[in-house]
Amino acid sequence: MSKHKVIYDTDPGVDDAMALVFQALHPDIELLGLTSVFGNATIETTTRNARFLAGRFAPGVPVAQGAAAPLKRAAPEPLAWIHGDNGLGNIAIEASVEAALDSRPAHRFIIDTVRAHPGEVTLIAVGPLTNLALALADDPQIAPLVKQVVIMGGAFGTDAVLGNVTPAAEANILGDPDAADIVFGAPWPVAIVGLDVTQRTIMSHDYLASLRDRGGAAGQFVWDVSRHYEAFHEQSAQLKGIYVHDSSAVTYVLAPHLYTTRTGPVRVLTDGIAVGQTIQKPSTMPVPAPDWDNRPESTVCLDVDVAGMLALYERTICGTL
Ligand code: BDR
Ligand code: CA
Repeated sequence: MSKHKVIYDTDPGVDDAMALVFQALHPDIELLGLTSVFGNATIETTTRNARFLAGRFAPGVPVAQGAAAPLKRAAPEPLAWIHGDNGLGNIAIEASVEAALDSRPAHRFIIDTVRAHPGEVTLIAVGPLTNLALALADDPQIAPLVKQVVIMGGAFGTDAVLGNVTPAAEANILGDPDAADIVFGAPWPVAIVGLDVTQRTIMSHDYLASLRDRGGAAGQFVWDVSRHYEAFHEQSAQLKGIYVHDSSAVTYVLAPHLYTTRTGPVRVLTDGIAVGQTIQKPSTMPVPAPDWDNRPESTVCLDVDVAGMLALYERTICGTL
């Protein structure tokens, strides 16, 4: 099987870092580049972190800096209480290993790379979707040249969960709702891995300790980077472990059979008290809905084989695939 050629659009971010290690170590993924975006921290911090992660785990993979703020709004405050003051759980970051920065802005890097590999590139986007929307604005013709876009973001009400930042909105979509609505409306295949499945997938304290003990340098890194994040989950959700957000998008690329899905166009509310809410019209729904009809269908994940997901991550980190 040929490898998945991936551009990883990311706002590192503790769980972003864990998903980068996963991609760097999995033999079926060829990382073509990392593109940074504001989100969990400022663009300066997420870009520095992306360069550190690439330099340490994916040497030679380029990093391009992306958007500092959403399309139409002010940049949000960094989420230091979740991801630490440095965005990576306050671990030490060695400047000496940081990858060089590509001279192009992220959206240009995406356009050029997609055009260099027509029909082959998978975009894994795990932060606000601003870079993808800017790429579409600059070169709308790239959409049909992209193999697939897999997004961690949104929530569709399974288990009555619609958000994690407000009662109605998930962080990445709320980060730039205008961009998200553009991305879901473009003619490229989109799969959405939202809170419906990422909050069902939990890496327990013992699971993470096992990675530390059996996963060599990568396992030790995953443990170290997740200490602050685990403490946040314990305080905020009384959880003895962490939700698996961004690595779930990677898993969808590698093993889509682990997810139960539903197809249909997705819209994002861009104002009002429910700004950032994601709403799908299932393709089986017969009634007319002009705001959804004639938009492309997205694939939304509704359920997950949790044990299968956790086993895939563990085997990748521990080198036992
Ligand atoms: C998403 O928001 C960010 O804080 C995480 O990195 C993840 O991408 C979860 O809602
Ligand atoms: Ca993220």
